Amino acid sequence: MSEMNAGSRTRLNQMPEWIALGKHREQLGDTHLRELFAAEPGRGTAYTLQVGDLYLDYSKHLVTDETLALLRELAAAADVTGLRDAMFRGEKINTTEDRAVLHTALRAPRDAVIEVDGENVVPDVHDVLDKMAAFSGKIRSGEWTGHTGKRIKNIVNIGIGGSDLGPAMAYEVLRSFTDRELTVRFVSNVDGADLHEAVRDLDAAETLFIIASKTFTTIETITNATSARNWLLTELKADQDAVAKHFVALSTNADKVAEFGIDTANMFGFWDWVGGRYSFDSAIGLSLMIAVGADRFREMLDGFHLVDEHFRTAPAESNVPLLLGLLGVWYGAFFDAQSHAVLPYSHYLSKFTAYLQQLDMESNGKSVDRDGNPVEWQTGPVVWGTPGTNGQHAYYQLIHQGTKVIPADFIGFAEPVADLLPGLVAQHDLLMANFFAQTQALAFGKTPQEVRAEGVAEELVPHKTFKGNHPTTTILAKELTPSVLGQLIALYEHKVFVQGAIWNIDSFDQWGVELGKVLAKRVEPALTEGADVPGLDGSSKALVAKYRSLRGR
Ligand code: F6P
Repeated sequence: MSEMNAGSRTRLNQMPEWIALGKHREQLGDTHLRELFAAEPGRGTAYTLQVGDLYLDYSKHLVTDETLALLRELAAAADVTGLRDAMFRGEKINTTEDRAVLHTALRAPRDAVIEVDGENVVPDVHDVLDKMAAFSGKIRSGEWTGHTGKRIKNIVNIGIGGSDLGPAMAYEVLRSFTDRELTVRFVSNVDGADLHEAVRDLDAAETLFIIASKTFTTIETITNATSARNWLLTELKADQDAVAKHFVALSTNADKVAEFGIDTANMFGFWDWVGGRYSFDSAIGLSLMIAVGADRFREMLDGFHLVDEHFRTAPAESNVPLLLGLLGVWYGAFFDAQSHAVLPYSHYLSKFTAYLQQLDMESNGKSVDRDGNPVEWQTGPVVWGTPGTNGQHAYYQLIHQGTKVIPADFIGFAEPVADLLPGLVAQHDLLMANFFAQTQALAFGKTPQEVRAEGVAEELVPHKTFKGNHPTTTILAKELTPSVLGQLIALYEHKVFVQGAIWNIDSFDQWGVELGKVLAKRVEPALTEGADVPGLDGSSKALVAKYRSLRGR
């Protein structure tokens, strides 16, 4: 690893490049996007990049050539490429857990060589992919049958966080590529309602449960998996033997899988160098592979790999994840932007932002640097958003006329999905008209003069004025394919990486989720048995007492 990122380095806010950006921001002042476009009429085509199938327009950002040059100098000073290369080489850049960070190996081609502790991990990756492909094939063809001999028609993935969000999101995204005869559901919440709604109309004899958990110790997943096993055995009036045909595991922990009662022959493994939120393209993607088939899954992995290679090799000026990462750093530090909206104009991407929330916020929701010192700069933003047109009729008001700076990504596609009912195809232009209109309105707004020229009464002019100047990125692709999905996810993975590298934080641990888990374990006996929980604060004690009384305990 480069020395700079391995340990102490100049504090980010003391770097001359950071200070220069601050001065530049002052000079930029209230410069409006209208002025930037007037000064540079070709900006709409000049400020664009292409990676794979993704066309990216960043012209509607509050940046000039000088801003971009200064941001790239900051990236160089922070040695983003040094840390990037260390990641791709398999070095242990997740320092607080002493782990390599090698999700990029999960989509490497069969002949690649990537070593961790001197061992090439690529053959193991492909062994698992081959095993997944063979198993998916058997489910899809009907060769794999349940305990009673019935064909499997229902797949229920039980997992949470990185063991749920990826496959659940991707199943929605690629619905038009799925075998529509299969019912695929995702259970994550320890609220029994989640499993109840997932299985209540299913025939247990036709149902396969995929228990997805990197650690195989996550309480929500193990609790739901145990309940699912009880449901299955009760429904089938069978004993433990039935489990083998109806349960498979995706995990790094063979001992815990065996302890749960799943034959490790039916386990699909991965490795500690795959972080949970980076694991969707590992064995954790099995439910998706069953739904779309191994070939489509490979196309998706190739899409990931294409962007990995771009990130690894493209020069700074045309490196898309680098650019997106730098823009986020710019707004967080110098515009006090607290959040970042991701607004897909595709119904199939309805869970995409929720997936990105874990990717980004679990990675960069940190407040100490790699040396353990408190940071004095903004780190990860609040990531939020839902499909665009629905958002337009809900929260876009605040983006347009509120007081907050909210950089936003707009993601859209030229073609509707291939199997859309012919009668619905015409709606696509209307969808995309909204897509283009919104970024225009956000950027350029409507001046008081323009409002007056429409004859609006003077007292209403301030209310009908749109300040504009709201920064957006537009990402446009021809169609939403498995490869494009892989490209999009890898783009955001590396964007998050770039930001963590600049902020000098460990983007690959997640210690912040631990305290709540420990406390939940301590509080549970207080709820069920009324046990005294030592150290419980006054508010929580009163709430526990209220809960118990409401439940008649
Ligand atoms: O609690 C957070 C977390 O550890 C995530 O990072 C992870 O994706 C999720 O829990 C699920 O963990 P597992 O796959 O080990 O069940």
